[in-house]
Amino acid sequence: MSDVTTDNDVEEAAIVRAAMVRELRDQRAIRSESLAAAFTSVPRHLFTPGEPLKVAYAVDATPIVKTDGNGLTLSSVSAPHLQATMLEAAAVEPGMRVLEVGSGGYNAALLAELVGDNGRVTTVDIDPDIVERAGTFLHEAGYDHVHVVLADAEQGVPMAAPFDRIIVTAGSWDIPPAWIEQLADDGRIVVPLRLKGTTRWIAFGRDSGGGLVSRSYGLCVFVPFQGAGSHTERTVTIDVGVVLRLDDEDLKVDAEALRRALHLPRIERWSGAVFDMPDELALFLLTNAPNMALLYSGQEAVDQELLASSTLKGVPVLLDGDSFAYRAARENDDMSSGYESGVYAHGPAAENVATRYVELLRQWADKYCWRGAASIQYIPKPATPPAPSAGVIAKRHGTVVITWP
Ligand SMILES: C[S@@+](CC[C@H](N)C(=O)[O-])C[C@H]1O[C@@H](n2cnc3c(N)ncnc32)[C@H](O)[C@@H]1O
Repeated sequence: MSDVTTDNDVEEAAIVRAAMVRELRDQRAIRSESLAAAFTSVPRHLFTPGEPLKVAYAVDATPIVKTDGNGLTLSSVSAPHLQATMLEAAAVEPGMRVLEVGSGGYNAALLAELVGDNGRVTTVDIDPDIVERAGTFLHEAGYDHVHVVLADAEQGVPMAAPFDRIIVTAGSWDIPPAWIEQLADDGRIVVPLRLKGTTRWIAFGRDSGGGLVSRSYGLCVFVPFQGAGSHTERTVTIDVGVVLRLDDEDLKVDAEALRRALHLPRIERWSGAVFDMPDELALFLLTNAPNMALLYSGQEAVDQELLASSTLKGVPVLLDGDSFAYRAARENDDMSSGYESGVYAHGPAAENVATRYVELLRQWADKYCWRGAASIQYIPKPATPPAPSAGVIAKRHGTVVITWP
């Protein structure tokens, strides 16, 4: 257990912590000496009581802190790998004023190490239990100087603003105006933003037009942002355990026609192009064709051979009335990754929808098969909305524009 009390226990925790830091460095999640020092200093096990040391310090473990009545996770201690990646993207420096949205204590302690004695860390959470817990753990670990606030972060924390960095640790559907207002002129926001049913952490800096522009981004999964800025994703059930997730309220989906298509024999078409980096490819697909959604299925539909296993974790699907196509992959030694992309398509227009999808797969492999190929812009309440296209996503307070230069 991580009830570390004796000197031996403290020593053991330090050994496991050092192994975690080495692994995070090997994975290039930690790249700077300052972050390595922060991860080496903060005793993560004090923020994950009840977890064995090997879980507390596992680079991908996300101990759950609180769930709602339906089993949905409301709060967790984020995985070290993701925390390190987002903190590197934030480029936190000594003396900075930092706001963390979503508390737990551990990430705030890392931030306190990074900003040092001349900096200031404020962490805000909407949940009184989490605020109390974070305050207690921060005290026990010696980080009393972190300012823990109970509030809905939709309004930011005006009394502690401005902030050089805002680091959001809940999946946000939009960027509330208060965050942009409370950001220093040359500040940076790192936020897990929900886009077309999927989430990317995005490190934004300001652009010259009053909006934000991405410096880097990556795949992530976070608990949902609650309170005034919460948003319920649109889902459409096609069959038992087969669901579409989409951002687009206007996209017309004929669920019954798609269910019939699902039970027709599928066709498969192969692109001759490499399959690699599924997260990057998914973002490209979702933002380069209208009528794209994410298709999810449970194990049962896969066992019945209705859908391929790529749908278990969600895969971009191109919808066309009574037909649909989704991404497939197969081993191919001629490809640099060892895999080739392709599609499975169902329905009366399967051939047509598969052809369009394959064209997108080839385009991505040809021009954008590298990490960070997209540019993501956030335009708060644009006076003239950008022309509608698959890469333009309307939000409550502004518009996200994703381009592939
Ligand atoms: C993944 S947890 C935070 C993890 C934490 N940063 C850590 O050190 O590991 C996400 C937190 O966001 C909080 N949250 C969700 N919506 C919020 C909102 N509108 N305002 C403030 N906190 C919010 C949840 O209560 C939850 O505790």
